[in-house]
Parts: sequence; structure tokens; C-alpha cells
Amino acid sequence: MNFDLTDNQKLVRDMVRDFAEKELKEKAVEIDKTQEFPWDILKKMAELGLLGIVVPEEYGGAGMDFISLAIAVEEISRACASTGVIVAVNNSLTAYPIEHWGNEDQKKKYLPLLCKGEKIGAFGLTEPNAGSDAGSIESTARLEGDYYILNGTKRFITNGGEAGIFVVFALTNKELKHKGISAFIVEDGSEGFSKGKHEELMGIRATANCELIFEDCKVPKENLLGEEGMGFKIALGTIDVSRIDIGAQAVGISQGALEEAIKYSKERKQFGKPICEFEFIQGMIADMATKINAARLLVLRAAYIKDKGEKRFSLESAMAKWYASEVAVDVTRQSCQVHGGYGYTKDYPVERMFRDSKIMELYEGTSEIQKIVIARSLLR
Ligand code: CAA
Repeated sequence: MNFDLTDNQKLVRDMVRDFAEKELKEKAVEIDKTQEFPWDILKKMAELGLLGIVVPEEYGGAGMDFISLAIAVEEISRACASTGVIVAVNNSLTAYPIEHWGNEDQKKKYLPLLCKGEKIGAFGLTEPNAGSDAGSIESTARLEGDYYILNGTKRFITNGGEAGIFVVFALTNKELKHKGISAFIVEDGSEGFSKGKHEELMGIRATANCELIFEDCKVPKENLLGEEGMGFKIALGTIDVSRIDIGAQAVGISQGALEEAIKYSKERKQFGKPICEFEFIQGMIADMATKINAARLLVLRAAYIKDKGEKRFSLESAMAKWYASEVAVDVTRQSCQVHGGYGYTKDYPVERMFRDSKIMELYEGTSEIQKIVIARSLLR
């Protein structure tokens, strides 16, 4: 068994860490306040190949592996969780399904735009009445001539307000329930497509989270992804990949919070000595560091299994996502605790990291959904 990263993976880690230190740490504070989508940063990331990490080079991507994608998302999220998920959604929830299930024309048309950051991607599955029960979506699509006509509303769509390319799920046959769901590539600006309520979130505040509204929206029939009725498998197969990246995002937030706790505990003096000399503080630091390492191993192992070409890795990605999410909430809470009252103020980044961490346990399937996926895989 070899735990070493390859030279290329180390290069990705060092390059993204350097970029995040220089460009993202300050920006994270600002965009948390303003909720501004970080287009300037994304353009720079596109130049570094970070918007299409696993997309083959022939479609404008960097042609790297899923371990590199996880490493990049971790390093970005260590500085800025909003940017971490924006990049994850572009890579694994939008480019990935187009690359994996799309035909040649779709790949040639949409992947270069996503990789170059000319358009950002989003994933339209969740609806007001269909969150955990993703198979119960109500949006519909009916074929009329050369177009599918989409109707319905999508809710809580990360990147939604700024994205230009959407992978959207709708029922082409209501009777068949989840087997009647199909996937479509929808462009912003399509007739009958508009953006609804912008969500003001507790954390990851710069992610342009909004509703998508389809009112007799015309989508060219060549934008059907895969075949009619394949949508639910495309959705869950995509989320399996993306859960690895959300695990990586959670590890990044946790690592950032641990580093802040270590730094503060060395600077802050109470009872005549730095607080890092107290065993309660040392205990928290040991606890945080060990849990983060365990979470990172689960994330990298899930990515490794995907890289090996395994068809189903739902078990490994759900374990990584679940454990890393819980660790992020726990570690950011402990980091606040190390900071004492200062950790509750906006003078220190742990206040934001604590808020950012909560979403980890909610999106891409709640922790409870991950446990269902894990248990079903083991009991099957
Ligand atoms: N890959 C491919 N196919 C899969 C699959 C997978 N991972 N998991 C299940 N399937 C197939 C099953 O084999 C089954 O196929 P058949 O009908 O042909 O037998 C079919 O899908 C239905 O499977 P289940 O009976 O297991 O489905 P279910 O209705 O019980 O739901 C679930 C399963 C795990 C609960 C699923 O609905 C789920 O994961 N829910 C959570 C939804 C979620 O994660 N949403 C995230 C939205 S995106 C997001 O959050 C992005 C963001 O903001 C950043």
C-alpha cells in the first residue's frame, strides 16, 4: 500500500495552496460579507486548469485524475469554502455528467466553455418538494417538435444565479416515477427560463444560490443528456463523484480551522503562558488533527477507487462525505472554542469557517442520507 501522492498530484497541491494563500484568503472575508460571486478568481483559476481538472485535454480540460480534483478542492476550501464548492460544482456536478454521459457534439460544445470559465455550471435536481427524496421530482419535460418543453421549479441551486450552463432533471414520463426522469443541458437565456429567489445563506455566502424557474422553457431536443429515462441514474452517478469533492471541501475547511487554532493558541497568553501549553487546548488540537487525517484518507481513498475505474463507489463516497462533514462541524466548533470569545467575532476567520461547515452535513445528501447509502450497500 502506497500513501504517497504522485509528483503531479504534489504539484497540484503546491500550486493550488500557493494560489489560495495569495489570492483567496483575503477574498474569502470580503465575499462572505458581500455575497459577491468571485468571477475574477474563477477566471484566474481557469487559467490554472482548475475548472476542468478531470476533463480530457481535447475538450479544454487539464486531463488529471480524481485524486488531483479532491486535492485541489481541499486546498481551495482551506482558504475559502465558497470558492471550493463553486469549483466542485463546475467540475463534478456539471462538466463530469456532460463528459461521462454526453455525446460528442455536447462535449465539444459545452466542456470548453466550462473549463475556460466562460460559463460556470450548475446542477438542477433539488426542488421545493424533492430534496432527500430526489426520485420524487415534479418538473416535467415534453417533446414538441424539435424542443423539449420544461416546466417546474428547482430550489437551492449552488452557482444558480451566475451559471450559464445547467444540468437539469425533469420527468419525461410521470407514470414511470424515477425511471421516467431525464437529464437535459439547459443554457441560461433559454426562452421560458428565469432565476428566482436568491437565498441568503448562513455560510458559503458567495455561491449565488437561487431558484430556477422553467415556464414552458424551450430546450433543443439535442440537449437531452443520455437517453430518456436515464436521468435518475445520471443524477445519482454524478452525486457519487461529487460527494468525494464535498468531503474534500469539508477536509479543507477543517484544515484551515485547525491551522487557525494552532496559530492562535501559540499567540494567546493566559495565566502567564501561551494557551497551547494547557492540556485542554492540546487535547482539542490532537482531536482535530487526528479526525482531519482520518477524513482525508477516506476522501482520497474514494477518489482512488474512482480513478481505478470502479463502476460503483457509492459506499466509499458516502462514507467520505459523511465522515468529513461531521468532522468539519466538530473541528470548526473546537477551533472557535480555542479562540474563546474572539472566535465568536468577525475578527478571526474561524467564525466564518464554523458557519461554512454546517452546509457540509446538508447538501449533496444529508448525513442521514449518507448513512442510508452506506447501510444499503452493506446490506444488499
Ligand atoms: N448510481 C446509479 N444508480 C443508482 C445509484 C447510484 N449511486 N443509487 C441508486 N441507483 C439506482 C438504483 O439501482 C435503482 O435503479 P432501478 O430502479 O433500475 O432498480 C434506482 O436508482 C432507485 O434506487 P433507490 O431505490 O435506492 O432510490 P431511492 O428513491 O430510495 O433514493 C437515495 C436513493 C440514496 C435516497 C437518493 O434519493 C439520494 O441520494 N438522495 C439525496 C439527494 C441528494 O444527494 N441531493 C443532492 C442535490 S445536489 C446538491 O446538493 C448540490 C449542491 O448544492 C452543491
